[in-house]
Amino acid sequence: MHKVRCFECGADVEDPLLDSCPKCGGLLTIEMDLDAAAGIRPYDLRKRPLGVWRYAPFLPVDASKAISLQEGGTPLYDCQNLVGKMGIKRLHVKYEGANPTGSFKDRGMTVGVSRALELGCGTVGCASTGNTSASLAAYAAKGGLRCVVLLPSGKVAAGKLAQAMFYGAKVVMVDGNFDDALAVVKQLARERELYLLNSVNPYRPEGQKTVAFEIVDQLNFEVPDRVILPVGNAANIWAVYKAFKEWRSLGWIDRIPMLTGIQAAGSAPIVEAFRSGKRDFVPEEHPETVATAIRIGNPASGRKALRAIFDTKGYAESVTDEEILAAQKLLGRSEGVGVEPASAASIAGLLKLVDSGIVSRDEKVVCICTGNVLKDPDTVMHSCEGILKAKPTAKDVRRVIS
Ligand code: F0G
Repeated sequence: MHKVRCFECGADVEDPLLDSCPKCGGLLTIEMDLDAAAGIRPYDLRKRPLGVWRYAPFLPVDASKAISLQEGGTPLYDCQNLVGKMGIKRLHVKYEGANPTGSFKDRGMTVGVSRALELGCGTVGCASTGNTSASLAAYAAKGGLRCVVLLPSGKVAAGKLAQAMFYGAKVVMVDGNFDDALAVVKQLARERELYLLNSVNPYRPEGQKTVAFEIVDQLNFEVPDRVILPVGNAANIWAVYKAFKEWRSLGWIDRIPMLTGIQAAGSAPIVEAFRSGKRDFVPEEHPETVATAIRIGNPASGRKALRAIFDTKGYAESVTDEEILAAQKLLGRSEGVGVEPASAASIAGLLKLVDSGIVSRDEKVVCICTGNVLKDPDTVMHSCEGILKAKPTAKDVRRVIS
């Protein structure tokens, strides 16, 4: 059992097709009834394999009818090589690139598309910087639904675009940025053209909560001091916060990590708000960054993100494109973990915050790396050393590699 509530005024919202509060226009959130979970012991969950549906008592859809591609259950890497280079005690990377479509979006989409089917919707849609569209297209295919995705023209990484096309979505390039595309798809949803599966749909963050559950589960119920993640449209940091809050309310954990959001310097409205101590933000009109996944100036869930950051005594920081690309390579070349630029923002942010003393060297940190390196091959090709050329002889190969 669960209720849909307004995040701002607390009103119950009955119409399942709304994306905001009919009374005050606020964001929606889901209030889970945790009574059923209260009878479970945390380790009992382990009867199911690690993954999103291990945490079914915390999810607002019927698990027996879920549209699933076996999402979640991603590795939590203990980054022994990187801690040496960074001078910190412990760092884990939660590698969300190992999800079925290569990003954390699959966690929310299994729940969101299952919800669309519960409601009897025939068409689902989203605006996306790429990953949401790739994920929705795959889950819509699995669920037998029509899928429409709106993308910002020319700013979607090749891997993501290919996925959305491949899984059979109707792919529409909008002459504008993500924020423009989101406004259009919301209107289409209001006109009942499609069921909206952006993360303003409160069912999406419910699935995304499971990344936090898995981190705690994989650390044998030891809670990290800090969790760092990239912030774009700003729902994921909220989802992580909500997960920790739910487990704390059951007494399964005794504290919530300091949630730390990282944005790209050219699209950092949440960081600006954080710096001025405000719980609301001023949109950035011309967002720009190499990390196209988080090239968002008007984050739909920005107010939720700020609550997550302030309530956990966390932090928000921005990183430059150069810092992002350097961190991406550092992670790949010291740990063998390949992430896309937006995901590397969390590592770049950690480096910066260790340098500035905000993160102390004995903190236990988990960085969530949200998407796979293969999502954006063009950026890798541009940022890495050139390819060597040789004649087909051992002698010539020896010459060029020496
Ligand atoms: N990392 C990656 C790889 C993403 O694709 C996104 C968001 C984020 C981080 C930020 O998460 O929006 O919850 O703060 N991508 C969305 C998309 C916007 O359309 O794929 P957030």
